[in-house]
Amino acid sequence: MASAPTREDHFSFGLWTVGWQARDPFGDPTRAPLDPVEAVTRLADLGAWGVTFHDDDLIPFGSDESERERRIKRFRDALDHTGVVVPMMTTNLFTHPIFKDGAFTSNDRSVRRFALRKVMRNLDLAAELGASTFVFWGGREGAETDSAKDVRAALDRYREGLDLLAQYVIDRAYPIRFALEPKPNEPRGDILLPTVGSALAFISSLEHHEMVGVNPEVGHEQMAGMNFVHSISQALWHGKLFHIDLNGQHGPKYDQDLVFGHGDLLSAFFLVDLLENGGPGGVPAYDGPRHFDYKPLRTEDSEGVWVSAASNMKTYLLLKERAAAFRADPEVQAALAASRVPELAVPTLAPGETYTELLADRSAFEDFDVEAAGAHGYGFAHLDQLAVEHALGAR
Ligand code: GCO
Ligand code: MN
Ligand code: MN
Repeated sequence: MASAPTREDHFSFGLWTVGWQARDPFGDPTRAPLDPVEAVTRLADLGAWGVTFHDDDLIPFGSDESERERRIKRFRDALDHTGVVVPMMTTNLFTHPIFKDGAFTSNDRSVRRFALRKVMRNLDLAAELGASTFVFWGGREGAETDSAKDVRAALDRYREGLDLLAQYVIDRAYPIRFALEPKPNEPRGDILLPTVGSALAFISSLEHHEMVGVNPEVGHEQMAGMNFVHSISQALWHGKLFHIDLNGQHGPKYDQDLVFGHGDLLSAFFLVDLLENGGPGGVPAYDGPRHFDYKPLRTEDSEGVWVSAASNMKTYLLLKERAAAFRADPEVQAALAASRVPELAVPTLAPGETYTELLADRSAFEDFDVEAAGAHGYGFAHLDQLAVEHALGAR
């Protein structure tokens, strides 16, 4: 059995996750509102390290200044009291009707100006609370109809907005980095920057691209039919995995936001293996928050909410333990070698070799035994069965 979560595990939760009242497009809420102070306290008791939130999760949209200050103070007191930190913050640019056609990319210019002001104010709060990552999930940046949105103009405005906000952070000397969160659809029919790949390409066009990375979510990539482990690998390869949203999903359908591992469990196993053991020499490949963005099932009462919150962390730690056992197993090491997995790290040309030498190397082509190379097996079947047996705790 894996040990209980501790602050060293760096588990964090959005206020909107445990606080979700389970209102869906077909039904009313099934749970009462959750006081952010209670969320912080209960999460701390369960062993969580951090809490994250949208401005409106803490301060209802339209609150006056004194109400805003009062709510922030109560929340700060709960943080001080429990030692819970705020590693990430984000802005709600999707609930209020003014954002129905987007925030930074609304066709209505006045909405875009309002959105930038809302974010700037929230950046000040993020700096005040010590959040080092600021997430942008553009759920309303998109369209349902191709006639309605000039996508290239929308990308211009998206870039304009992020360039301006990055400049604001730099000018204020806030120690904050941005993380864009891709999603293919929901709530918009089609959302801009639908996948990790599209977000990475977009980021390279930004003025302050070095301070912008991605916040991929398990379910969002799987909704787009992507392999999450591949997407995370590429984000890491670009040095752009600034944050992560862990949850569970059963393939391409609506955004399920299940408990981590309660969707594609084998993918979750390989994800944890990558995050925890994928760095050079087997160290963690990612050292940021292990952030859960899930929704407790609508069927659950408040007790079920805390059971599900604990389940995210427990499942993560179990998979971490299983992944460590997988890596430590000599049979696995032998199978990896037989499958030539480490050989892929060897550059294709020798040190100093150029294409001239490659052209002169008869063994590479003219004398190459293509029959033999085409005939040998790679042993992936054996290797993957070992992984499954470790994931199942059968080894
Ligand atoms: C979703 C998103 C959001 C974001 C959140 C933080 O599909 O609803 O995942 O939960 O993560 O808005 O930016
Ligand atoms: Mn989601
Ligand atoms: Mn998310």
